[in-house]
Amino acid sequence: LTSERYRVQRLPFSCVSDSDVAFFEHIMPGRVITNPEELKPFNVDWLKSVQGCSKLMLKPQTTAEVSQALRYCYERNLAVNPQGGNTGLVGGSVPVFDEIILSTVLMNRIISFDKVSGILVCQAGCILEKLNEYVEEQGFIMPLDLGAKGSCHIGGNVATNAGGLRLLRYGSLRGTVLGLEVVLADGSPLDCLASLRKDNTGYDLKQLFIGSEGTLGVITAVSILCPQKPKAVNLAFLGCQSFTKVLETFTTCRAMLGEILSAYEFMDEKCMELVERHLKLSSPVTGSPFYVLIETSGSNSTHDEEKLNNFVELAMTSGLMLWSLRERITEALTHDGYVYKYDISLPVGKLYDLVTDTRVRLGQSAKNVVGYGHLGDGNLHLNITAESYSHSLLDAIEPFVYEWTARYNGSISAEHGLGFKKKQFIQYSKPNEAVFLMQRFKAMLDPKGILNPYKTLPSSS
Ligand code: FAD
Ligand code: MLT
Ligand code: ZN
Repeated sequence: LTSERYRVQRLPFSCVSDSDVAFFEHIMPGRVITNPEELKPFNVDWLKSVQGCSKLMLKPQTTAEVSQALRYCYERNLAVNPQGGNTGLVGGSVPVFDEIILSTVLMNRIISFDKVSGILVCQAGCILEKLNEYVEEQGFIMPLDLGAKGSCHIGGNVATNAGGLRLLRYGSLRGTVLGLEVVLADGSPLDCLASLRKDNTGYDLKQLFIGSEGTLGVITAVSILCPQKPKAVNLAFLGCQSFTKVLETFTTCRAMLGEILSAYEFMDEKCMELVERHLKLSSPVTGSPFYVLIETSGSNSTHDEEKLNNFVELAMTSGLMLWSLRERITEALTHDGYVYKYDISLPVGKLYDLVTDTRVRLGQSAKNVVGYGHLGDGNLHLNITAESYSHSLLDAIEPFVYEWTARYNGSISAEHGLGFKKKQFIQYSKPNEAVFLMQRFKAMLDPKGILNPYKTLPSSS
């Protein structure tokens, strides 16, 4: 098997046989999917931009079942694609060829929640939104929030080290994840499911798996620290006359709002046009080239509101619609055509120049070139739409975007990971020595390379 579009060759893994299916059916009866129709949605990514042809999906319920399945795959040299909610945006969540899909969809049990510390322990397949609802009832929130919350799994969030809309306030999963349980490629379980704020006993192994995109092990359970639910959440939506004003507003905002600032998101007018055209959402503020959405989360509503009111002309307390305008840009873009998606970290002052330069470079060959993102984290989402996919447009964008990013010491993946689409560009953000060391970790933890082959790291030859 080769893939013309992908320009990759299938590696010499075994093919799934009837006796393999019989074995899996024996260890997880009724949870082995081979029906091609049922498999279809799990072979295609959320963006509908990459497609595999897996003939088998496994739905384990327990860590022991994951362990048995992987031990068998390892012995038989069968490639495996771990999958959570399949909302990943870099083609990492679906097979490239016929890898077995190992889904966490039935691993959705909450193991424990400590109301004093706010520490939640749960299986990897719990849906983020469901977890948030669960902890909210007890006066807490999840430390992360994303537009994909209704489908993504906490295991997938950890595997991608997802950032999202609350990172500015609660930090990255590298700080809030306290422990992980993982099954390694050969089926060995690794129990690092600590629930401690402090633990300096040796190397912090869980960090290796956070952001490893299913290439080093399958995450089966997560221990995570949840912050207290803020008593007062306020939102403000502003129009800005230039990107310089967006930056100035951010500086003032940080100085005046201090510890209650919980999100500072920006979007350009093109994004707003697409959200209005494709989703029929309307903005309360119009006629500006840029917009910012500011959220505060604090403990005293009068005090916080006063702070926010002092700062902005327009402050609102019913913010659902305002968040939709920002959160649903991703969805609006998919209605605009094929989406070329870039997720870049840059020094904040340079952030929008990349959008402007890309727009000039692509001219009429792109339908829309838009910029939005987590400005408070220095994270730009540059998206380009076209009627359909074309090699020539891709060649005009890449490596241009990556070279531009490297020139300013940015990162070519701020939060989505490298997956299948970006793995060959890792050198724009990491030196050869770092890539080589990553390849050595991969070889040590997964010597046969069965876990998510073709993803995250460039092949070692
Ligand atoms: P999947 O898409 O199923 O998998 C993603 C990767 O993780 C794959 O490489 C897969 O092999 C691996 N994986 C999944 N589960 C496991 C496991 N248990 N063990 C080991 N590996 C595993 N991302 C952000 O960072 N910030 C955002 O703000 C954001 N917003 C989004 C908004 C929308 C509308 C959409 C569609 C996506 C968004 N994303 C965002 C991207 C995506 O939602 C995240 O990357 C999410 O964390 C993926 O979780 P998932 O369960 O869907 O994982
Ligand atoms: C977002 O911030 O909206 C997400 O990362 C998804 C995207 O980049 O479109
Ligand atoms: Zn994002």
